[in-house]
Amino acid sequence: RTLNWNPVQVEKQGFKHFMLKEIYEQPGVVRACLEAYLHPDWHPDKDTSPINLAIPASLYDDLEHVQILACGTSWHAALVGKYLLEQLAGIPTMVQYASEFRYAPTPLTVNTLTIGVTQSGETADTLAALAMEKKRREGKPSQFQVRLLGISNRPESSLGHLVPQIIETHAGMEIGVAATKTFVSQLMAFYCLALDLAYRRQTISATRLEEILVGLRQLPAQIELILESQERYIEQLTHDFAETKDFIFLGRGINFPIALEGALKLKEISYIHAEGYPAGEMKHGPIALLDAKVPVVAIAMPGNVYEKVLSNAQEAKARDSRLIGVTPMNDPEAAETFDDLLPVPAVEELLSPILTVIPLQLLAYHIAARRGLDVDQPRNLAKSVTVE
Ligand code: G6P
Repeated sequence: RTLNWNPVQVEKQGFKHFMLKEIYEQPGVVRACLEAYLHPDWHPDKDTSPINLAIPASLYDDLEHVQILACGTSWHAALVGKYLLEQLAGIPTMVQYASEFRYAPTPLTVNTLTIGVTQSGETADTLAALAMEKKRREGKPSQFQVRLLGISNRPESSLGHLVPQIIETHAGMEIGVAATKTFVSQLMAFYCLALDLAYRRQTISATRLEEILVGLRQLPAQIELILESQERYIEQLTHDFAETKDFIFLGRGINFPIALEGALKLKEISYIHAEGYPAGEMKHGPIALLDAKVPVVAIAMPGNVYEKVLSNAQEAKARDSRLIGVTPMNDPEAAETFDDLLPVPAVEELLSPILTVIPLQLLAYHIAARRGLDVDQPRNLAKSVTVE
């Protein structure tokens, strides 16, 4: 009797591709991050931060600016991070592509924390940009001294040798070239960093802080709910996109980077042209692309831009685009606006990116899988780009 199993299949634990397996690992990854970063028995009366990042005061003291350097999906996580650091901790934050910053750095700012985000810790441009920043601040007066922090899934990587402090993202090894679970874990790192800074800088009330902590703890079960309730539907929906050549993704505010990430996932693995746009900018160009052949995916979550996104979506509908909405569950207004719904639990906007990205990952995955493409090893791409 021969043993009939394929070791790769075993590693995939019955999933057809690593990417799908990694999408399904996300509730566990968020749980691992919560366990690692949140003090379990914290109470507002306690005189310590609820967040356990062990970041030395020398990185945080008198902080006036944050600059974040990254590439690819990590750059999208950084954009969400900017939103959180500015809105929760009140720190002006710049996000730069590492490959751009290397050759055109921002003029030196004082009391600046520089964060390198790279899941692999090996991306050449990100490492070079961080090394350059370190070098150009050498010998400068104390307020210009470099303060470096890494966010990475691999603290033992080259990044670990370059920066003195790393927030480890606890996603476990990611094999699919298209980042999924590592992205969500980077978002978790930014929620925790922003909350830690907000607590220390006293830019957040105890009630608000508790509200967000409660919300964060509910995320793993909410991701599970999306996976359980959506995957079948999304798989079927993709039948309609067999011939589609272009997609537009719209989002605003904290969900604008998720629109970018949705578009990136789709182009990486399905080779379909996709653009992510801030919904309010659609009228300044992309609207000219729209017709019945170009579906529009809009992320519309409750919050101060909800109505705006719905009205931006209506403008696309008026150009005959098929409208797909990532919307709160059981929302009659959304049901009226969109042709297809990818509903997620109705969490507050600030926490929504961790949920809204899930249906977009599934959409990209199923479109690519249906086209019979090599989802885990897309053409021309590498898991980490270690050359310039
Ligand atoms: C490559 C991968 C992307 C990734 C980017 C940055 O292009 O294909 O999925 O987002 O590198 O990788 P990093 O390891 O720095 O996060």
